[in-house]
Amino acid sequence: MSTFVKNAWYVAAWSKDVGRELLPRTILGEQILLYRREDGTPVALVDRCPHKLAPLSVGRLKGDFVECGYHGMTFDCSGACVRVPGQQSIPRSAHIRSYPLVERYNAVWIWMGVPELAEATPIVDVPHYEDAGWGVVDGQYLHFKTNYLNITDNLVDPAHTSYVHRNTIGNEAGEDVGVQVEQGASHVLAYRWIKDAPPVALVARMGQFTGNVDRWQYYYLYLPSVSCVDFGSIAAGVEPTEENKDKGIRSFSFNFLTPETESTTHYFWLHVRNYHPADAQASDDVAHLMNLTFKEDADLLELVQIEQERTGVREYTGLAIDNAPVRIRRMIEGLRAQEQPEQAGQTAAARRASQPAFSS
Ligand code: FES
Ligand SMILES: [Fe+2]
Repeated sequence: MSTFVKNAWYVAAWSKDVGRELLPRTILGEQILLYRREDGTPVALVDRCPHKLAPLSVGRLKGDFVECGYHGMTFDCSGACVRVPGQQSIPRSAHIRSYPLVERYNAVWIWMGVPELAEATPIVDVPHYEDAGWGVVDGQYLHFKTNYLNITDNLVDPAHTSYVHRNTIGNEAGEDVGVQVEQGASHVLAYRWIKDAPPVALVARMGQFTGNVDRWQYYYLYLPSVSCVDFGSIAAGVEPTEENKDKGIRSFSFNFLTPETESTTHYFWLHVRNYHPADAQASDDVAHLMNLTFKEDADLLELVQIEQERTGVREYTGLAIDNAPVRIRRMIEGLRAQEQPEQAGQTAAARRASQPAFSS
């Protein structure tokens, strides 16, 4: 059974990767074709010709239209067929689905669900993205060979940093520090403060601390799969307030998870920071460290996926630190249950639309 939530905005690609070449990408198990019109507007269509199911991505762009590479049927940006070589009439079923897109944060976001719901659904807010006092690293991509829910589990789980990331962003100081959990209508927050402990390596370098620090980790997960990790450090002994966080070394690490298949996930990430905002070397250091860190997650979560597939179960001994991951999974199940009637309707419509496109 699918684990995907369709009525949500997902990053389909970084803006820089969508151009006048046909870009195929699997998203929520569907074959999608991305490109830009001549005026720069991005387009997303099903990457499948309704004639013999040839991928349109092996065809070519003609102006704003896509020409199938098998027999030349041609489609406009809405998915309507505008030409069938060798015949005058265009079969009524010669239409492919197009998807709503929005460009924000240098990314192209796609809506895979009921189109009418797209406009009223906001895209997550990335604080300080356009603030000159903050440095940005964006355009980053990793491919995880694991179901996206294994990653959402991980991204509301501060406790794993002491172990998985011992050599990058974690250290032993946090091993026995408990996690608090708060739940909103469409997000879960897992957080903790690790008080009066030595700074982790990056913070020690960037913050020039001379003594111990208070370190915070606030893991927000916005349904279904946008993660924001607010983390940083400040000289030990302050009140744990938002204002004091801004006085320390602070980062917002955003992870946009787009399910590719049930066992693979596109992992787009960006990072904003309040230290050395215009320093290219600091940006390179952040990109290098975060990519190392996420690779540590990927290596572990890919092994978890293999074991889940081998055993056919996702069972584990429940621990106190699972509070937030369990809430996320329940909330996602709730969203999926709401969508099922719509998905059933879409499946019937898709079956009808996939009838062979014979001409009359
Ligand atoms: S498969 Fe596309 S036109 Fe025949
Ligand atoms: Fe991690």
